[in-house]
Amino acid sequence: MPTTNLKFLSTVMWDARETTRDANSTDCIYGTAVCFSPVSFDLSTQSNHATLGHAEALRELTQEERDAIVAFELGLFTAQIYDKKAGELTAEKGRGGPKKLVKQDYYFGINDTLVGDYKTLVPFNPDVMSLYDSWSRYTSHHSDQTKRARAAIARGEDLFNRKPIQITGVSGINDDLGVAVLPGTCTTCHNTPNSGNHSTPMPLNIGIADESRRTPDMPLYTLQNKATGEIVKSTDPGRALITGKWKDIGRFKGPILRAVASRPPYFHDGSAANLAEVVEFYNNRFSMGLTTQEKADLVAFLATL
Ligand code: HEC
Repeated sequence: MPTTNLKFLSTVMWDARETTRDANSTDCIYGTAVCFSPVSFDLSTQSNHATLGHAEALRELTQEERDAIVAFELGLFTAQIYDKKAGELTAEKGRGGPKKLVKQDYYFGINDTLVGDYKTLVPFNPDVMSLYDSWSRYTSHHSDQTKRARAAIARGEDLFNRKPIQITGVSGINDDLGVAVLPGTCTTCHNTPNSGNHSTPMPLNIGIADESRRTPDMPLYTLQNKATGEIVKSTDPGRALITGKWKDIGRFKGPILRAVASRPPYFHDGSAANLAEVVEFYNNRFSMGLTTQEKADLVAFLATL
Protein backbone atom coordinates (compact mmCIF):
# COMPACT_ATOMS: atom_id res chain seq x y z
CA MET A 1 0.00 0.00 0.00
CA PRO A 2 1.30 3.47 -0.77
CA THR A 3 2.41 5.82 1.99
CA THR A 4 -0.20 8.42 1.08
CA ASN A 5 -3.62 9.53 2.29
CA LEU A 6 -2.48 8.55 5.77
CA LYS A 7 -4.63 11.26 7.31
CA PHE A 8 -7.52 8.76 7.04
CA LEU A 9 -5.80 5.88 8.83
CA SER A 10 -7.31 4.33 11.93
CA THR A 11 -5.16 1.21 11.67
CA VAL A 12 -1.48 1.17 10.77
CA MET A 13 -0.30 -1.88 8.73
CA TRP A 14 -2.41 -4.72 7.29
CA ASP A 15 -2.41 -6.63 10.58
CA ALA A 16 -2.58 -3.45 12.71
CA ARG A 17 0.83 -4.22 14.23
CA GLU A 18 1.63 -0.51 14.54
CA THR A 19 -1.76 0.48 15.94
CA THR A 20 -1.23 1.34 19.58
CA ARG A 21 -4.72 2.39 20.57
CA ASP A 22 -8.10 1.12 19.60
CA ALA A 23 -11.72 1.75 20.44
CA ASN A 24 -11.42 -0.42 23.53
CA SER A 25 -8.38 1.31 25.01
CA THR A 26 -8.77 3.02 28.36
CA ASP A 27 -8.27 6.58 27.12
CA CYS A 28 -11.10 6.19 24.63
CA ILE A 29 -14.70 6.38 25.76
CA TYR A 30 -16.30 4.11 23.20
CA GLY A 31 -18.86 5.78 21.00
CA THR A 32 -17.92 9.36 21.91
CA ALA A 33 -15.80 12.16 20.53
CA VAL A 34 -13.08 11.32 23.07
CA CYS A 35 -11.92 8.58 20.72
CA PHE A 36 -9.33 10.38 18.64
CA SER A 37 -6.71 7.91 17.64
CA PRO A 38 -3.42 9.74 17.36
CA VAL A 39 -2.38 8.37 14.00
CA SER A 40 0.66 10.65 14.15
CA PHE A 41 1.79 8.76 17.27
CA ASP A 42 1.43 5.41 15.49
CA LEU A 43 3.23 6.65 12.39
CA SER A 44 5.98 8.03 14.58
CA THR A 45 6.69 4.71 16.28
CA GLN A 46 6.34 2.95 12.94
CA SER A 47 8.98 5.17 11.35
CA ASN A 48 11.35 4.23 14.12
CA HIS A 49 10.60 0.50 13.93
CA ALA A 50 11.08 0.53 10.15
CA THR A 51 14.38 2.36 10.55
CA LEU A 52 15.67 -0.14 13.11
CA GLY A 53 14.17 -3.16 11.33
CA HIS A 54 14.11 -2.81 7.56
CA ALA A 55 16.87 -0.22 7.35
CA GLU A 56 18.95 -1.91 10.11
CA ALA A 57 20.00 1.42 11.61
CA LEU A 58 22.32 1.33 14.59
CA ARG A 59 20.38 3.92 16.60
CA GLU A 60 16.81 4.96 17.13
CA LEU A 61 15.43 7.98 15.30
CA THR A 62 15.32 11.16 17.35
CA GLN A 63 11.91 12.64 18.09
CA GLU A 64 12.72 15.42 15.64
CA GLU A 65 13.49 12.94 12.85
CA ARG A 66 10.28 11.02 13.53
CA ASP A 67 8.24 14.22 13.51
CA ALA A 68 9.73 15.21 10.16
CA ILE A 69 8.87 11.81 8.62
CA VAL A 70 5.31 11.94 9.95
CA ALA A 71 4.79 15.51 8.74
CA PHE A 72 5.99 14.45 5.30
CA GLU A 73 3.78 11.35 5.24
CA LEU A 74 0.66 13.18 6.38
CA GLY A 75 1.13 15.75 3.61
CA LEU A 76 0.95 13.20 0.79
CA PHE A 77 -2.38 12.71 -0.97
CA THR A 78 -2.94 10.46 -3.97
CA ALA A 79 -6.07 10.08 -6.09
CA GLN A 80 -6.96 9.58 -9.73
CA ILE A 81 -7.47 12.85 -11.62
CA TYR A 82 -8.39 11.59 -15.07
CA ASP A 83 -10.21 8.63 -16.56
CA LYS A 84 -9.63 7.55 -20.16
CA LYS A 85 -13.34 7.27 -20.88
CA ALA A 86 -14.87 9.76 -18.42
CA GLY A 87 -12.23 12.47 -18.74
CA GLU A 88 -11.43 14.91 -15.92
CA LEU A 89 -12.75 13.56 -12.64
CA THR A 90 -13.55 17.06 -11.43
CA ALA A 91 -15.64 17.96 -14.49
CA GLU A 92 -19.36 18.71 -14.15
CA LYS A 93 -19.12 18.87 -10.33
CA GLY A 94 -17.26 15.56 -10.07
CA ARG A 95 -15.35 15.52 -6.79
CA GLY A 96 -12.50 13.17 -7.69
CA GLY A 97 -8.80 14.00 -7.47
CA PRO A 98 -6.40 14.92 -4.66
CA LYS A 99 -7.42 18.57 -4.15
CA LYS A 100 -10.86 17.62 -2.88
CA LEU A 101 -9.36 14.71 -0.95
CA VAL A 102 -7.09 17.00 1.06
CA LYS A 103 -10.18 18.83 2.32
CA GLN A 104 -12.15 15.66 3.11
CA ASP A 105 -13.07 15.59 6.81
CA TYR A 106 -11.82 12.67 8.88
CA TYR A 107 -11.53 11.84 12.54
CA PHE A 108 -11.37 8.60 14.47
CA GLY A 109 -14.80 6.94 14.51
CA ILE A 110 -16.34 9.09 11.78
CA ASN A 111 -19.48 7.39 10.42
CA ASP A 112 -18.96 4.33 12.61
CA THR A 113 -21.01 1.41 11.34
CA LEU A 114 -22.07 0.00 14.69
CA VAL A 115 -22.67 2.91 17.06
CA GLY A 116 -22.85 5.87 14.67
CA ASP A 117 -20.47 8.81 14.34
CA TYR A 118 -18.33 9.18 17.49
CA LYS A 119 -18.38 12.98 17.30
CA THR A 120 -21.82 13.90 15.96
CA LEU A 121 -23.59 10.72 17.16
CA VAL A 122 -25.43 10.68 13.82
CA PRO A 123 -26.29 7.06 12.86
CA PHE A 124 -24.15 5.28 10.27
CA ASN A 125 -24.79 6.55 6.72
CA PRO A 126 -24.19 3.89 4.04
CA ASP A 127 -23.61 6.59 1.40
CA VAL A 128 -19.90 6.65 2.17
CA MET A 129 -18.82 7.66 -1.31
CA SER A 130 -20.25 10.90 -2.71
CA LEU A 131 -17.65 11.87 -5.29
CA TYR A 132 -19.77 11.40 -8.38
CA ASP A 133 -23.31 12.09 -7.19
CA SER A 134 -23.63 14.89 -9.75
CA TRP A 135 -22.95 12.43 -12.57
CA SER A 136 -26.01 10.34 -11.72
CA ARG A 137 -28.06 12.57 -14.00
CA TYR A 138 -26.46 10.90 -17.04
CA THR A 139 -27.73 7.60 -18.41
CA SER A 140 -26.30 4.78 -20.49
CA HIS A 141 -28.39 6.10 -23.41
CA HIS A 142 -26.64 9.44 -23.58
CA SER A 143 -25.35 10.23 -27.07
CA ASP A 144 -22.05 11.49 -25.65
CA GLN A 145 -19.54 8.71 -24.88
CA THR A 146 -17.91 10.67 -22.05
CA LYS A 147 -21.27 11.14 -20.37
CA ARG A 148 -22.10 7.46 -20.74
CA ALA A 149 -18.81 6.69 -18.97
CA ARG A 150 -19.70 9.16 -16.20
CA ALA A 151 -23.09 7.49 -15.83
CA ALA A 152 -21.36 4.13 -15.32
CA ILE A 153 -19.10 5.61 -12.62
CA ALA A 154 -22.06 7.14 -10.80
CA ARG A 155 -23.92 3.80 -10.96
CA GLY A 156 -20.80 2.09 -9.60
CA GLU A 157 -20.65 4.55 -6.70
CA ASP A 158 -24.28 3.82 -5.90
CA LEU A 159 -23.64 0.07 -5.99
CA PHE A 160 -20.69 0.51 -3.64
CA ASN A 161 -22.89 2.43 -1.20
CA ARG A 162 -26.16 0.57 -1.60
CA LYS A 163 -25.97 -2.87 -3.25
CA PRO A 164 -27.12 -5.32 -0.56
CA ILE A 165 -24.57 -7.82 0.73
CA GLN A 166 -25.56 -10.54 3.18
CA ILE A 167 -22.46 -10.57 5.35
CA THR A 168 -21.93 -14.10 6.71
CA GLY A 169 -19.00 -16.04 8.10
CA VAL A 170 -16.81 -12.95 8.56
CA SER A 171 -14.68 -13.27 11.65
CA GLY A 172 -14.63 -9.88 13.35
CA ILE A 173 -18.28 -9.24 12.46
CA ASN A 174 -20.57 -12.25 12.60
CA ASP A 175 -18.76 -13.97 15.49
CA ASP A 176 -18.08 -10.83 17.53
CA LEU A 177 -21.63 -9.49 17.10
CA GLY A 178 -23.22 -12.92 17.42
CA VAL A 179 -25.27 -12.54 14.23
CA ALA A 180 -25.36 -15.23 11.55
CA VAL A 181 -26.19 -12.75 8.79
CA LEU A 182 -25.60 -9.00 8.84
CA PRO A 183 -27.37 -7.25 5.96
CA GLY A 184 -24.96 -4.63 4.68
CA THR A 185 -23.18 -3.18 1.68
CA CYS A 186 -19.55 -2.58 0.68
CA THR A 187 -19.65 0.43 3.02
CA THR A 188 -20.53 -1.58 6.12
CA CYS A 189 -16.83 -2.39 6.19
CA HIS A 190 -15.43 0.45 4.05
CA ASN A 191 -17.12 3.17 6.13
CA THR A 192 -14.77 6.19 6.08
CA PRO A 193 -16.31 8.93 3.89
CA ASN A 194 -14.67 9.24 0.48
CA SER A 195 -11.68 7.25 1.71
CA GLY A 196 -13.03 3.72 2.07
CA ASN A 197 -11.07 2.26 4.97
CA HIS A 198 -12.66 1.49 8.33
CA SER A 199 -12.80 4.48 10.66
CA THR A 200 -11.90 2.45 13.76
CA PRO A 201 -9.57 -0.54 14.05
CA MET A 202 -11.66 -3.53 12.95
CA PRO A 203 -9.57 -6.35 11.54
CA LEU A 204 -11.75 -8.80 9.63
CA ASN A 205 -11.36 -12.22 8.08
CA ILE A 206 -13.22 -12.12 4.76
CA GLY A 207 -11.52 -15.33 3.65
CA ILE A 208 -8.53 -14.06 1.70
CA ALA A 209 -6.06 -16.23 3.67
CA ASP A 210 -8.20 -19.38 3.45
CA GLU A 211 -6.44 -22.58 2.42
CA SER A 212 -8.77 -22.84 -0.59
CA ARG A 213 -7.30 -19.65 -2.11
CA ARG A 214 -3.69 -20.71 -1.66
CA THR A 215 -1.42 -20.70 -4.71
CA PRO A 216 1.88 -22.66 -4.75
CA ASP A 217 3.93 -19.51 -4.06
CA MET A 218 2.26 -19.01 -0.68
CA PRO A 219 3.02 -20.71 2.64
CA LEU A 220 0.37 -22.69 4.49
CA TYR A 221 0.28 -22.50 8.28
CA THR A 222 -1.42 -25.26 10.26
CA LEU A 223 -2.55 -23.88 13.59
CA GLN A 224 -4.00 -25.87 16.47
CA ASN A 225 -6.06 -24.40 19.30
CA LYS A 226 -4.45 -25.54 22.56
CA ALA A 227 -7.75 -25.47 24.45
CA THR A 228 -10.13 -27.10 21.96
CA GLY A 229 -7.80 -29.00 19.64
CA GLU A 230 -9.42 -27.29 16.64
CA ILE A 231 -7.19 -27.03 13.57
CA VAL A 232 -7.17 -24.14 11.10
CA LYS A 233 -5.05 -23.84 7.98
CA SER A 234 -4.25 -20.36 6.72
CA THR A 235 -1.81 -18.79 4.28
CA ASP A 236 -1.36 -15.89 6.71
CA PRO A 237 -2.49 -15.81 10.35
CA GLY A 238 -2.65 -12.00 10.09
CA ARG A 239 -3.71 -10.21 13.26
CA ALA A 240 -3.31 -13.43 15.28
CA LEU A 241 0.47 -13.22 14.88
CA ILE A 242 0.35 -9.93 16.80
CA THR A 243 -2.23 -10.74 19.48
CA GLY A 244 -1.78 -14.50 19.80
CA LYS A 245 -5.58 -14.83 19.83
CA TRP A 246 -7.30 -17.71 18.05
CA LYS A 247 -10.20 -15.54 16.90
CA ASP A 248 -7.79 -13.16 15.13
CA ILE A 249 -6.55 -15.77 12.62
CA GLY A 250 -6.86 -14.42 9.08
CA ARG A 251 -8.08 -10.98 10.19
CA PHE A 252 -6.81 -7.95 8.26
CA LYS A 253 -7.83 -4.33 8.07
CA GLY A 254 -9.93 -2.83 5.29
CA PRO A 255 -7.48 -0.53 3.50
CA ILE A 256 -7.91 3.04 2.24
CA LEU A 257 -9.36 2.74 -1.27
CA ARG A 258 -8.30 6.07 -2.79
CA ALA A 259 -5.91 5.66 -5.74
CA VAL A 260 -6.58 1.93 -5.55
CA ALA A 261 -6.23 1.63 -9.36
CA SER A 262 -2.58 2.63 -9.06
CA ARG A 263 -1.53 -0.26 -6.86
CA PRO A 264 -2.50 -3.73 -8.12
CA PRO A 265 -2.39 -6.54 -7.16
CA TYR A 266 -5.03 -6.41 -4.40
CA PHE A 267 -5.69 -7.76 -0.93
CA HIS A 268 -2.93 -8.28 1.63
CA ASP A 269 -1.48 -11.19 -0.35
CA GLY A 270 -1.85 -9.67 -3.81
CA SER A 271 -4.19 -12.51 -4.80
CA ALA A 272 -6.48 -10.37 -6.98
CA ALA A 273 -4.62 -9.21 -10.08
CA ASN A 274 -7.01 -6.38 -10.91
CA LEU A 275 -10.18 -4.64 -9.79
CA ALA A 276 -12.39 -7.00 -11.81
CA GLU A 277 -10.99 -9.91 -9.78
CA VAL A 278 -11.70 -8.03 -6.55
CA VAL A 279 -15.34 -7.54 -7.57
CA GLU A 280 -15.58 -11.17 -8.67
CA PHE A 281 -14.24 -12.24 -5.27
CA TYR A 282 -17.02 -10.37 -3.45
CA ASN A 283 -19.66 -11.55 -5.91
CA ASN A 284 -18.72 -15.19 -5.20
CA ARG A 285 -17.86 -14.89 -1.52
CA PHE A 286 -21.17 -13.25 -0.60
CA SER A 287 -23.34 -14.61 -3.46
CA MET A 288 -24.16 -11.04 -4.46
CA GLY A 289 -25.68 -11.94 -7.81
CA LEU A 290 -24.06 -9.00 -9.59
CA THR A 291 -24.90 -8.68 -13.30
CA THR A 292 -22.16 -8.19 -15.89
CA GLN A 293 -23.21 -4.55 -16.11
CA GLU A 294 -23.06 -4.07 -12.33
CA LYS A 295 -19.60 -5.62 -12.16
CA ALA A 296 -18.37 -3.31 -14.92
CA ASP A 297 -19.92 -0.28 -13.18
CA LEU A 298 -18.29 -1.12 -9.86
CA VAL A 299 -14.91 -1.53 -11.55
CA ALA A 300 -15.38 1.76 -13.43
CA PHE A 301 -16.10 3.50 -10.13
CA LEU A 302 -13.21 1.92 -8.18
CA ALA A 303 -10.85 2.90 -11.02
CA THR A 304 -11.63 6.60 -10.47
CA LEU A 305 -10.81 6.67 -6.76
C1 HEC B 1 -17.29 -7.77 5.43
C2 HEC B 1 -16.48 -6.59 5.23
C3 HEC B 1 -16.22 -6.12 3.82
C4 HEC B 1 -17.15 -5.93 2.81
C5 HEC B 1 -18.65 -6.17 2.86
C6 HEC B 1 -16.40 -5.44 1.69
N1 HEC B 1 -15.08 -5.36 1.99
FE1 HEC B 1 -13.60 -4.80 0.72
N2 HEC B 1 -12.19 -5.30 2.12
C7 HEC B 1 -12.47 -5.72 3.41
C8 HEC B 1 -11.25 -6.17 4.04
C9 HEC B 1 -11.11 -6.69 5.47
C10 HEC B 1 -10.22 -6.02 3.07
C11 HEC B 1 -8.76 -6.46 3.23
C12 HEC B 1 -8.78 -8.00 3.12
C13 HEC B 1 -7.44 -8.69 3.05
O1 HEC B 1 -6.57 -8.27 2.27
O2 HEC B 1 -7.30 -9.71 3.77
C14 HEC B 1 -10.85 -5.47 1.88
C15 HEC B 1 -10.18 -5.14 0.72
C16 HEC B 1 -10.76 -4.53 -0.40
C17 HEC B 1 -10.04 -4.08 -1.56
C18 HEC B 1 -8.54 -4.23 -1.80
C19 HEC B 1 -7.77 -2.96 -1.59
C20 HEC B 1 -6.27 -3.13 -1.67
O3 HEC B 1 -5.57 -2.12 -1.52
O4 HEC B 1 -5.75 -4.25 -1.86
C21 HEC B 1 -10.96 -3.54 -2.43
C22 HEC B 1 -10.69 -2.88 -3.79
C23 HEC B 1 -12.26 -3.69 -1.80
N3 HEC B 1 -12.09 -4.29 -0.57
C24 HEC B 1 -13.47 -3.31 -2.38
C25 HEC B 1 -14.73 -3.71 -1.90
C26 HEC B 1 -15.97 -3.65 -2.65
C27 HEC B 1 -16.09 -3.09 -4.06
C28 HEC B 1 -16.94 -4.17 -1.86
C29 HEC B 1 -18.38 -4.40 -2.19
C30 HEC B 1 -18.66 -5.22 -3.36
C31 HEC B 1 -16.30 -4.58 -0.61
N4 HEC B 1 -14.97 -4.28 -0.67
C32 HEC B 1 -16.98 -5.16 0.46
C33 HEC B 1 -13.72 -5.77 3.99
C34 HEC B 1 -14.92 -5.75 3.28
